[in-house]
Amino acid sequence: MNIKTSGLKNTDYKQAIEKLKSKKNAIILAHYYQTNDIQDIADFVGDSLALAQWASRTQADVIVLCGVHFMGETAKILCPEKRVFIPDSDAGCSLADSCPVDQFEAFLAQYPNHTVISYVNTSAAIKALTDVVVTSTNAYQIVESFPKSMPIIFGPDRNLGNYINSITGRNMVLWDGACHVHEQFSIERILELKKTYPQASVLAHPECKSALLKFADHIGSTSSLLKFAVTSPAKAFIVATESGILHEMQKQCPDKLFIPAPPNDSTCACNECSFMRLNTMEKLYRCLRDETPEIIVDETVRQKAEKPIRRMLEISNRLGL
Ligand code: 13P
Ligand code: SF4
Repeated sequence: MNIKTSGLKNTDYKQAIEKLKSKKNAIILAHYYQTNDIQDIADFVGDSLALAQWASRTQADVIVLCGVHFMGETAKILCPEKRVFIPDSDAGCSLADSCPVDQFEAFLAQYPNHTVISYVNTSAAIKALTDVVVTSTNAYQIVESFPKSMPIIFGPDRNLGNYINSITGRNMVLWDGACHVHEQFSIERILELKKTYPQASVLAHPECKSALLKFADHIGSTSSLLKFAVTSPAKAFIVATESGILHEMQKQCPDKLFIPAPPNDSTCACNECSFMRLNTMEKLYRCLRDETPEIIVDETVRQKAEKPIRRMLEISNRLGL
């Protein structure tokens, strides 16, 4: 994205954003993987499920979704009457991109009579082909709400799908997609860290490879990892998910030590999602000011995609998630 600088000092963005927000009756929803300053200015910070739940309930006229494109799309699908913006239109998702709609359609045709369960990290077009959407917070419970005998296709994340298969004893047919961030964690380097911090608990997102999940002390969505960190008696944690979550962990547990799990690339100490990190305070300010980039979803696709998302929200609500 080619933008000229706004001329504002970094400290001025906060005030300017607050002003625009109240003028336009806007709400800022941010994912835990956003930069610290964006998390701090957001009205709400949460995981993918919580962002969808907030979007579905808000009275605001405008939603600025500080996250990646599929999160903005989910908000727009749930709130067609509202205007939804994301600070950088290039903030995509390698996992969502690993599932192109024409190929997924051909894949589904090979498995007639299968229920289609899709991770929320998908385009609106994939959701339109789906029976029920899940996030990492509710995937286990939603899969288990179907009879064991029911044939299921699960996509696009093969690691989350494998993990759910392993804990449920199911044999869901999996789409072969993955997230480039969560697949990058180095088991060797995490085990090295364990030697330095033998008491540290390993927290892992289920998008990580199964070899890493095997030795994790807790596996769960970003909100689940956060909850575990807060309630666990452990004092140190090695965190195998995008390092943005460490901001909230450290805020809620100032006396505990959080160590970002290192990726395979030894030149970097932590693992950041390059898409999530495209959003900045300056882009957030400009997006509110100029009302662009806006999330637009084709109405026919939107109507089809809304059903499996609403189904997810209803089941989650029933289960108290
Ligand atoms: P959750 O927000 O469900 O933990 O998922 C993480 C993720 O990969 C978002 O892109
Ligand atoms: Fe997508 Fe992975 Fe980035 Fe999440 S961390 S937005 S799954 S690329």
